[in-house]
Amino acid sequence: MKRIQLLDKEFSLSIPASDIKRAIWLMADKINRDLKDKNPLMVCILNGSFMFSADLMKLIEFPCQISFVKLASYEGMGSTGKVKELIGFNEELKGRTVVLLEDIVDTGVTVENSVKQLLQTGASEVIVATLLYKPDACKREVKLDYIGLEIPNDFIVGYGLDYDGYGRNLPDIYSLVK
Ligand code: IMP
Ligand code: MG
Repeated sequence: MKRIQLLDKEFSLSIPASDIKRAIWLMADKINRDLKDKNPLMVCILNGSFMFSADLMKLIEFPCQISFVKLASYEGMGSTGKVKELIGFNEELKGRTVVLLEDIVDTGVTVENSVKQLLQTGASEVIVATLLYKPDACKREVKLDYIGLEIPNDFIVGYGLDYDGYGRNLPDIYSLVK
């Protein structure tokens, strides 16, 4: 199994790019059918979701817009349990169906918080699309409308996900070697 080193940690190949691609293709196919008449505003949660959002957007077949917010809850390899808003939600989403694009739902804190804030800012409906979901780590009651892949509760990097800022550029996903 292919191994890589990032800073002080070793990771082994866990989800190859071809599996990621297929999961995103299947999700886009559903979104194209379900949301084509809703004029949704896609919202990419930076930093982690940049790669997933870019690849998903290229497969959306109806005219749609994208916006970016920047949130942070992770430090190193663990969730702090709090969500910092670094670039916030704004007015443009008033009355809109919003599709939240997340790289991964881990404890669920970020998604729960973001949905709440989107509704407070005036979104009429919030739909959540996450590439990855760790069911065993999730501590919140969150409604996930589109899930790419369910994964074990291991720390992963690659395809936008990082370890202290490194690994986001990797086309495959790797998990920590314990
Ligand atoms: P949550 O708030 O605990 O659900 O985690 C949300 C954010 O933490 C995600 O959007 C990621 O940016 C980050 N995160 C969660 N799990 C991992 C992981 O295994 N590797 C890298 N980042 C992660
Ligand atoms: Mg994220």
